[in-house]
Amino acid sequence: MALNLDSIGKPIGPVTKEYTWKDVVLYALGVGAGFQELEYCYEKDLKVLPSFSIASILNIDFLSILAETTNVNLAGILHGEQELIFHNPIPSEGTLTTTGRVTDIYDKGDRGALVVAEFDTVHSNGKKLYTSIITLFSRLDGGFGGPDAPPKEVAFPDREPDHVIEGVPTRDQPLIYRLTGDVFQLHVDPEFAKMAGFEKPIMHGLCTHGYACRALIQSLVPGRPERMRRMNCRFSKTLYPGEAVKTLVWKTGEGRAVWKTVHSETGAEIITNGECEYGDVIGETVRFDDRVAVVTGAGAGLGRVYALELAKRGARVVVNDLGGARDGSGNGTSSPAQAVVNEIRELGGEAVANFDNVATPEGGESIIKTALDAFGTVDIVINNAGILRDKSFTKMEPDNWGAVLAVHLNGACNVTRPAFKVMKEKGYGRVIMTTSAAGLYGNFGQTNYSAAKMALVGLMNALKIEGEKYNIKVNTVAPLAASRLTEDIMPEDLFKKMKPEFVSPMTLFLCSEDCPVTGNIYNVGMGFFNRAAVVTGKGTVLGDGKAVPSPEELMAKLGDVTTMDQGREFKHLNDQVGDIMAAFSPKA
Ligand code: NAI
Repeated sequence: MALNLDSIGKPIGPVTKEYTWKDVVLYALGVGAGFQELEYCYEKDLKVLPSFSIASILNIDFLSILAETTNVNLAGILHGEQELIFHNPIPSEGTLTTTGRVTDIYDKGDRGALVVAEFDTVHSNGKKLYTSIITLFSRLDGGFGGPDAPPKEVAFPDREPDHVIEGVPTRDQPLIYRLTGDVFQLHVDPEFAKMAGFEKPIMHGLCTHGYACRALIQSLVPGRPERMRRMNCRFSKTLYPGEAVKTLVWKTGEGRAVWKTVHSETGAEIITNGECEYGDVIGETVRFDDRVAVVTGAGAGLGRVYALELAKRGARVVVNDLGGARDGSGNGTSSPAQAVVNEIRELGGEAVANFDNVATPEGGESIIKTALDAFGTVDIVINNAGILRDKSFTKMEPDNWGAVLAVHLNGACNVTRPAFKVMKEKGYGRVIMTTSAAGLYGNFGQTNYSAAKMALVGLMNALKIEGEKYNIKVNTVAPLAASRLTEDIMPEDLFKKMKPEFVSPMTLFLCSEDCPVTGNIYNVGMGFFNRAAVVTGKGTVLGDGKAVPSPEELMAKLGDVTTMDQGREFKHLNDQVGDIMAAFSPKA
């Protein structure tokens, strides 16, 4: 049976797993820790090895769910590569909730196929702990005519390693390690191992990985496992229990190193292509506990990510989505909004769904009423709902014009207006508008969309002033992200990289209590951030303010009029009027 290529993008999980300090200690013993690293083995002040993360994910049977989803041939799969990104230290007990999806399937021809999946794990304390990117090497599934994986070779410095740490797994090591969950016979049953072509049972790859993780901590962040930020590697060869390994570590820059684990006697590379990043974890100070957020169009794309991320950081969220088609047609359905609410609840968050249409004043009132009825207030509004009806201008029928303005522009007004009343009364509010590069800079075939998106900047400009004395901050995001709005516009490889998740840090920051700015516009996509602004040139005076200058006089001075040298930003209409007046005032 062939690989299921349609599994790309399919969600996996959520799957939950409870663990206690005993699971943490068993893992540490399984990967060779003992009295010399008591902090991983004694429940008093227990620390958790960061590599526990991957063992705990795989223990919750992710590999079998992944295999089932992608239909890989189980007879030929190997754990090929493993990347772990650590967001927060792992507590010594709790419940882990892991969700993920298949991100890529690559074809390596005769050699097989690579199946890549990415998972996020959140702890019952609400914190995201780690992201795990697993690459399965499927020896029997290649040759289906798909793209090859991009080359990914780590360059090792041409010098002696900065650290060499030896580890000697005992002859019985797999017997302990398997108790953490991976009970595959290959690691315990001599007959099975022989059948599979080995002299005797072999080490679990992830057990050797745990030895490597301990070695990296000893070399780079001694006694401080919480300072590990990322660990990436490729599993290269098998190892027999009782054979010593050395982990070689080269520091390559501030907080960065490359590493490999080799057989101490033969020098064979057991784990290679290793990278490691380390340093202080930035504390999760952007929190929304006790805040109520309304996110429109949150059933998919960017809105869904905003809703999830806000909820993970403590917000109670109204997930609004009409559930219509991309062009806004159809009667709508409750399923997208409800699905996101279910996702939030499964993560232990609080959310309610709302299916109203932002394009009508009644819809806007009803969305805010949902927040008030469910949670008693509203602190944050993210105006995100959107549709597209692209056509060149002469073919743009009034209904295509009107529908796009109704959702984007009127929608933001309809929802923000009733929320603004509540925010003024309580003296607190955060409002986000969603503009677009099409509005800020222009795009063919999008007169309706560009006009609506730029109009939202005007709405922000006036609202930032009306909200100023009530601590209501109004900012605008211009996102660039993969969603159904952009699926046929972006090239496929770019589409894969433009995850909506990349936009949420800016949106969350602008929604946060500590947000210091109002009236700003930010372009955000794929980890790139910058600010866009309306900038006004220095200008020049033609004549004396009494006689009207002629068009010819204007043309003669066009350079002075047009130049943006010494351009400035005005925060209020009065600043600009004052600027004109000042141009005629006698100079000191
Ligand atoms: P999306 O199509 O995945 O999400 C938009 C959501 O809005 C949909 O789930 C849809 O059902 C909902 N919606 C549409 N009309 C609605 C209405 N009348 N009432 C309630 N919900 C409604 O699209 P994406 O990309 O996540 O877009 C989010 C926002 O970001 C939109 O305002 C879009 O214009 C803007 N944007 C997106 C860019 C991108 O690169 N994805 C670029 C620039 C702006």
